Amino acid sequence: MSLEAEVSAHYAKDGLLQRIIEALNEMGVSTGSVTPEDLKSVDEFHVGGFSATTALIDQLDLKPEMKVIDIGSGIGGTARFVAGETGAHVTGVDLTPEYTATARSLSELVGMTAVTDYQTANALNLPFDDGSFDVALMLHVGMNIPDKAALMAEVGRILRPNGLFAIYDIMKVGSEPISFPVPWASVGENSFLEGLQTYREASFQSGFAEVSSRDQTTTALKFFADQKRRNGNAGLPAVGLHILMGNKFPAKLANMVSNIAKERIAPIELVLRLE
Ligand SMILES: C[S@@+](CC[C@H](N)C(=O)[O-])C[C@H]1O[C@@H](n2cnc3c(N)ncnc32)[C@H](O)[C@@H]1O
Repeated sequence: MSLEAEVSAHYAKDGLLQRIIEALNEMGVSTGSVTPEDLKSVDEFHVGGFSATTALIDQLDLKPEMKVIDIGSGIGGTARFVAGETGAHVTGVDLTPEYTATARSLSELVGMTAVTDYQTANALNLPFDDGSFDVALMLHVGMNIPDKAALMAEVGRILRPNGLFAIYDIMKVGSEPISFPVPWASVGENSFLEGLQTYREASFQSGFAEVSSRDQTTTALKFFADQKRRNGNAGLPAVGLHILMGNKFPAKLANMVSNIAKERIAPIELVLRLE
């Protein structure tokens, strides 16, 4: 199986949309009245959820007339959130067809099809002309992509000059091996963690300059502790990321928290500008 097929198989879950709707119904939210806020605990598949998205986009000065791309958009929560907060149009692209389809259906459900759209595509081969976007976002995706230089080159191609690329990935910080499974990979062979310096160097090769970077470990550990306090030992609400992570979710979550707490990996922001 190709790496792309393995990554998609890792993320795809049968009947995903139906499961989300059933969980919402169980929480007393009827299908016809779902709002973007009702989806927040399941549709932002990265450490810190929409708070982390807010922290990232607060650095970007997004405007309604801008065209934004969210690379590895999952089930589309970040795209909906950014479009809702800023008025910008957000295009999501993701390798996993079931995620793209679910993203589209959820945007339909909450009435956001005019401001978001989704396509199935590989981040290394984006179906857009050169210079198509003002801003690119990428949250928790680089861990599935071994060739960071190819990724930077392709994002650099579809951004306009002076466009921004805002990354929020799990990066390697120590030399210790990490425990698997984790949310992005069940086994080490499908995990391609790199340190911040590797991201930087790959980006500089493609004409990016660094605007800022920030290690979000402290915020992340507080987020996990708060979540556990609110939701009990499982650490997740009923409409939660366990729907995306499948039955190994307790181990995936526990390993990620402990890998971060032991300073083997860290959620790190890196904002780049195309020169
Ligand atoms: C942990 S999820 C994050 C999803 C989304 N960014 C979010 O924060 O909710 C990682 C996503 O990256 C996608 N992905 C992994 N490799 C990719 C690639 N080469 N091109 C496009 N998407 C990819 C997966 O299909 C998955 O949806």
